Amino acid sequence: MEANIVLLPGDGIGPEIVAQAERVIHAVAKKFGHTFHLESHDIGGIAIDKYGDPLPAATIAACKKSQAILLGAVGGPKWDDPTAKTRPEKGLLAIRKELDLFANLRPINPSKHLLDSSPLKREIVEGVDILFLRELTGGIYFGDSGRRENDTVAYNEMVYSVPEVERIVRLAGEAARGRRGKVTSVDKANVLEVSRLWRQVSDRIMKEEFSDLQYEVVLVDAMAMHLISRPKDFDVVVTGNMFGDILTDEASMLPGSLGLLPSASVGSSGPGLYEPIHGSAPDIAGTGKANPLATILATAMLFRHSLKLEEEAALIEQAVDTVLGAGHRTADIAYGQPSIGTVEMADHVLEQLN
Ligand code: NAD
Ligand code: IPM
Ligand code: MN
Repeated sequence: MEANIVLLPGDGIGPEIVAQAERVIHAVAKKFGHTFHLESHDIGGIAIDKYGDPLPAATIAACKKSQAILLGAVGGPKWDDPTAKTRPEKGLLAIRKELDLFANLRPINPSKHLLDSSPLKREIVEGVDILFLRELTGGIYFGDSGRRENDTVAYNEMVYSVPEVERIVRLAGEAARGRRGKVTSVDKANVLEVSRLWRQVSDRIMKEEFSDLQYEVVLVDAMAMHLISRPKDFDVVVTGNMFGDILTDEASMLPGSLGLLPSASVGSSGPGLYEPIHGSAPDIAGTGKANPLATILATAMLFRHSLKLEEEAALIEQAVDTVLGAGHRTADIAYGQPSIGTVEMADHVLEQLN
């Protein structure tokens, strides 16, 4: 097949890990006889430095013409001034909104080879298989915000509308039908009005359209605890933008590292955006230590969801598993044992793809 893929390396470790994913894309193209047209564009801090805009017009235009987008990460201390006119993260929020990528899929499947890399006990982690569906274009991230009273008060409004909740809950129901048939909706309906609306809509959609599934609601604070005490009980977890952000970083400790977790952001049509769930890791940027596997696994999700290349996706996932099975570890999953760098880890994956 032929496809246009846009690469958005971004900041910090972003360019280091996207470069490794790019090698994987080339290897898949060669092995399966595909032609992928790759174009790199700026987003985030680097785009602020060059153009004063974290999402330049040329970047979003290229993304709109593509079939899929692979993003590294944005942000870093250089752009962290709280009084700055704009921020790298604004570029990421803008691209999600502009492409209407309302659903962020974050699968949590600890590798059997890493069961002892998790800070949690093996018996807690073994067999965990969760798919988080994080709503991505609404909630507190996109409500009205600002300062008032002479800059002495700041506010962010959390807003959800009925159709916004309906579409993400529907997607959760559909996903659960292809999995173990259970949906957990996470909210804070005991306190927040917006969560009470979320729960009403979620209850109704599940009852009317997905009565064949198991369905439960859990409050977000308790969910933070259940996630590490009984993670095997969850199948599809659907939640709002900020709760999903926080719970999935927590969930990364089930497989053992943020550096392992990919994500797919999709809308009802148009290109999908694929990225690791982690950030630009300023503490290790430039040291060659970053784990490239989350981004490589995000590339597998890109092949599966946007290009419908299931065999290619499965091959990448198998390659990663084989490499972990052979004992190769970057520092984040080595726990003091000998470790290898970003490029060496990708070399091992590529060996499996050739
Ligand atoms: P982070 O995810 O960048 O890093 C948290 C910790 O995890 C750090 O110790 C880091 O070294 C480690 N880590 C992350 N990815 C790793 C990898 N691939 N391999 C090994 N270790 C890894 O979160 P942070 O430090 O809170 O944020 C740094 C910057 O990244 C901030 O500006 C933030 O806004 C941004 N950020 C961007 C994205 C994104 O672009 N999607 C996501 C999260 C955070
Ligand atoms: C993520 C990140 C982003 C988010 C930031 C950088 C805007 O943390 O992709 O998880 O909060 O969505
Ligand atoms: Mn996050």
